[in-house]
Amino acid sequence: MAPESDTIFRPDLLAGQVALITGGGSGIGLGISELLASLGMHVVIASRKPEHFDVARDQLLAQGLSVSSIALDVRDQERVRTVIDQVSQQHGRLDLLVNNAAGNFYAPSATLSPNAWKAVVEIDLYGTFHCSQAVYPIMKQQGGGRIVSTSMTLHYRGWPQMAHATAAKAGVDALTRTLAVEWAPERIRVNAIAPGPIPTEGVRKAFTPLPDSGIPDVFAAATERMEQYARDRIPLGRWGTPRDVANMVAFLASPGGDWITGAIFVIDGGEWLAKS
Ligand code: HXC
Repeated sequence: MAPESDTIFRPDLLAGQVALITGGGSGIGLGISELLASLGMHVVIASRKPEHFDVARDQLLAQGLSVSSIALDVRDQERVRTVIDQVSQQHGRLDLLVNNAAGNFYAPSATLSPNAWKAVVEIDLYGTFHCSQAVYPIMKQQGGGRIVSTSMTLHYRGWPQMAHATAAKAGVDALTRTLAVEWAPERIRVNAIAPGPIPTEGVRKAFTPLPDSGIPDVFAAATERMEQYARDRIPLGRWGTPRDVANMVAFLASPGGDWITGAIFVIDGGEWLAKS
């Protein structure tokens, strides 16, 4: 596999453009931030936790990339509007929104508290809508733009203990298709990416049950058999990396994505299609 610093794209492919990436300071979001910035974009990392966005910003600045960061909880619609207006005023434009912020955890549906359901649905689905709605007038006014939202593949089949996240991501898919049609006249392309198994820290956290919940720590058990899992369950035989996903986002942000809207790209080594 190529090292993460290598890219298949021309280094100035996205020069002069501005992107805002929610949850862009860790995991897949960080992979997207790094690739887009290395292709010449100014990347604004927007996330809840300074330990994510500040560290990520400093790490990318140290590579000579053009990056800034801002605190944002995508559940807070007023704050979303303020941040997005600020970014577009500061940079004079906003070419790409990546709705990547997500909160997920395994929990049995029968006992999921109203607040637990709300936390995940508000981050994954409401957050995607809040940010998309906030960039609309800016992108309309500048003659177009791109939105890419992070979905998943777990809702393509039944996925026990993830009712909240699967419902939210199914909503993200529906939103993607609807906004694509509704906003095409303004030349706003709206697409989604659906990553498969990529062992980031966020996924590890999502798999780790609360203490005393009585739920087995399946991820801790699975990490001992990572290679075996990839051989048995992923047709292309390996786990994914943030770069696998970031490549698709870069393509969608480039002129190559001009005639693509309403599409949901599965990037999973064939995992969801294979025997579960
Ligand atoms: C059961 C849980 C829980 C868990 C939180 N809750 N974690 N219930 N099991 N593991 C419940 C809490 O008890 C509470 O309900 C409610 O959810 C809200 O929790 P808070 O911690 O108060 O909320 P908040 O600070 O907003 O954080 C919620 C969160 C958190 C965002 C969901 O888990 C988090 O910060 N996660 C990190 C980000 C993340 O999850 N990324 C995942 C990316 S990976 P009560 O009733 O007690 O008030 C990904 C792919 C996953 O998306 C694919 C997996 C296969």
